[in-house]
Amino acid sequence: MKKPDIKIPKRTFIEHLQDSFRPEKLPTDDRGRMRMVLDNLIFHIHPPKIPERTLRWTYTWGLGGISAVLFGVLVVTGLLLEMNYTPSPPQAYLDVIDLRTDIWFGDLIRNLHHWSGNFMVVVVTLHLLRVFFTGSYRPPRQFNWIIGMAMLLLVLAANFTGYLLPWDQLAFWAITVGTSLISYIPVAGPFISRMLLGGPEVGSQTLLSFYSMHISFIPIALVMLMSFHSWKIRKDGGGLSIPKGLEEGEMTEVKKVTTIPHLVRRELVCTVTVLAILFVWSALVSAPLEGIANPDVSPNPAKAPWYFMGLQELLLHFHPLIGAIIIPGIALVALLLLPFYDSDDQSTGIYFRSRKGRYMTIMAVVWAVVLVPLWIILDEFVFFWTEWLPGWSPLISNGLIPLGIVLLALFILDRVSKHWLDSNYEERILTLFSFLFVSLVILTIIGIFFRGPGMNLYWPWNMPSAHPV
Ligand code: HEM
Repeated sequence: MKKPDIKIPKRTFIEHLQDSFRPEKLPTDDRGRMRMVLDNLIFHIHPPKIPERTLRWTYTWGLGGISAVLFGVLVVTGLLLEMNYTPSPPQAYLDVIDLRTDIWFGDLIRNLHHWSGNFMVVVVTLHLLRVFFTGSYRPPRQFNWIIGMAMLLLVLAANFTGYLLPWDQLAFWAITVGTSLISYIPVAGPFISRMLLGGPEVGSQTLLSFYSMHISFIPIALVMLMSFHSWKIRKDGGGLSIPKGLEEGEMTEVKKVTTIPHLVRRELVCTVTVLAILFVWSALVSAPLEGIANPDVSPNPAKAPWYFMGLQELLLHFHPLIGAIIIPGIALVALLLLPFYDSDDQSTGIYFRSRKGRYMTIMAVVWAVVLVPLWIILDEFVFFWTEWLPGWSPLISNGLIPLGIVLLALFILDRVSKHWLDSNYEERILTLFSFLFVSLVILTIIGIFFRGPGMNLYWPWNMPSAHPV
């Protein structure tokens, strides 16, 4: 039977665009629904209808979306910077100077790129915290959690490779310290470090390989994972996890609203606000730039980029194998596998799981704020393990012994939350995670603001000026 000749009127690009922002009347038939989704870019990212509750700003804080906006700014400003940059010393540094002084809006574009990269580390971490504290990593979203973890590592890698590109003293020595951590990986460490540096130490080859990773592999991998991430959000459980009240049981009826305009309007307002803040901040606060990199003159102290300062601080208290590899490795694997050992979704959608959970999180923060600085002071001025145990291998005296003490403290904390404070399994995981996360933040703050020449401890207001060695 000959197919009827149906003429579908051609629509202009503008009409297509307008369609994307017009609240659609949801066709009832599948074919009509499919046609509507195909014609509408927004419905490629979002379902036509979403649970009204997920619109609550105080549930997602828009953090996933803000991460995507910052990534967009990075791509646009990155493409502009690329046109005025040569990835080889000393031209790299001279090009950055040019950007600051001679290129129209060069300084603003560089600042926008620098700050959106740094803000993205913060926003993506806050997004991870939001997902964690609402239990939104549990099945069916466990795979999206793993994708998210991969994206967090890529965001850190993008910042780390980008950090070297200005080729100034700050960049050169921060990357020298940062990459030295890699060489502590047993057996493969020196090989990976050599491969990454393109030689025995940071040099012109490193600049080229960091640049190529920064403009190709990392952004491409991020774009692919982000697309998959947003597709999975839609596929997992029909959309975002739904916020629930503390005493609320299983929800029988979920009220839905159309994505256009309810969600799209909020996303637009959020995007414009983020861009406005970013522009004002980048116009007022310049990205740092010190003198050109000089391998013969190392600043004292030489510090890693701020997001790795917690790790560098750990290295002051543990043997490198423990501080740079074992502890971060265990933490990363435990975080990655979280959805598989905390998978009961009863409390998914409830911030901090329960009333007890909220109390335990506060307790964990207080414990960390008290115990971590106390431990740092004791380890700095009291515990001289290697002097006390002169003949012992430093891996034991300055590694396994302090690690044992820290693990014992964590064990005691867990026993206290279980037996004294009567926490259940998920509340104990919440307590441990909150304690360890706040500990990392405190280690990072101490590393950034309290460590001065010789990496000794100083009050920030008494910090002697850094004198190169
Ligand atoms: C470049 C980085 C990232 C981008 C652009 C991104 C984007 C998004 C967006 C737009 C959402 C939905 C709305 C929202 O929750 O804000 C979302 C949800 C989600 N994200 Fe991410 N994300 C990123 C990183 C991460 C990380 C680091 C993790 C975890 C380790 C993660 C895990 C999840 C999960 C499990 C959901 C679903 C949450 C739910 O259903 O409530 N994401 N992400």
